[in-house]
Amino acid sequence: MFEGADSEPAALNPSPSGSSVESRRSFLGVLLGLGSLFVGALLSVPLIRFALFPLIRRTTELKSSPAGEIGEYSSLTEPVLRTIQIELIDGWRKATSEKVVYVTKDNQGQLRVLTSICPHLGCTVPWNKGKKQFVCPCHGGTFAADGTRVSGPSLRGMDALETSVQNGQLLVRFQYFRQLVSDKEVIG
Ligand code: FES
Repeated sequence: MFEGADSEPAALNPSPSGSSVESRRSFLGVLLGLGSLFVGALLSVPLIRFALFPLIRRTTELKSSPAGEIGEYSSLTEPVLRTIQIELIDGWRKATSEKVVYVTKDNQGQLRVLTSICPHLGCTVPWNKGKKQFVCPCHGGTFAADGTRVSGPSLRGMDALETSVQNGQLLVRFQYFRQLVSDKEVIG
């Protein structure tokens, strides 16, 4: 189409003025710039996702921690305290921390692992051998050996953690739960 226009007599198709050449150039420049922006945006998506990954994923990675040989709990008569190592991942940082849990049994005789964090306001709840109950030192909340709420200000029993058994090892997935509510709700 432009070839035909170029072949017209000079009188009918005067050579473009300087300003029209400049406007064509600036138009092409804008097109080129937009194209580069588009390609740049496409290429940067994976990089942005990679950079933001620590911000958009779960703060705490849910890995299981070993809590001892399963065989050692076969003759359990009361809750036993275990300290497990958990790995906390916050953005790009990794940290290991220790958490206290109790291995106990439910009323069917099945193993149950309880977090020691009180569901009322988060104090560490110890097992009281004399009273045969968990007794929270902060506000006197009491819980049965299987974690069921007995008395006190807590709106629910102690929280059970997810468990599994692998190669004879009891594995516990540590989680945090919302306090001051009656239903168990994972928060991290
Ligand atoms: S923190 Fe345990 S009863 Fe209040």
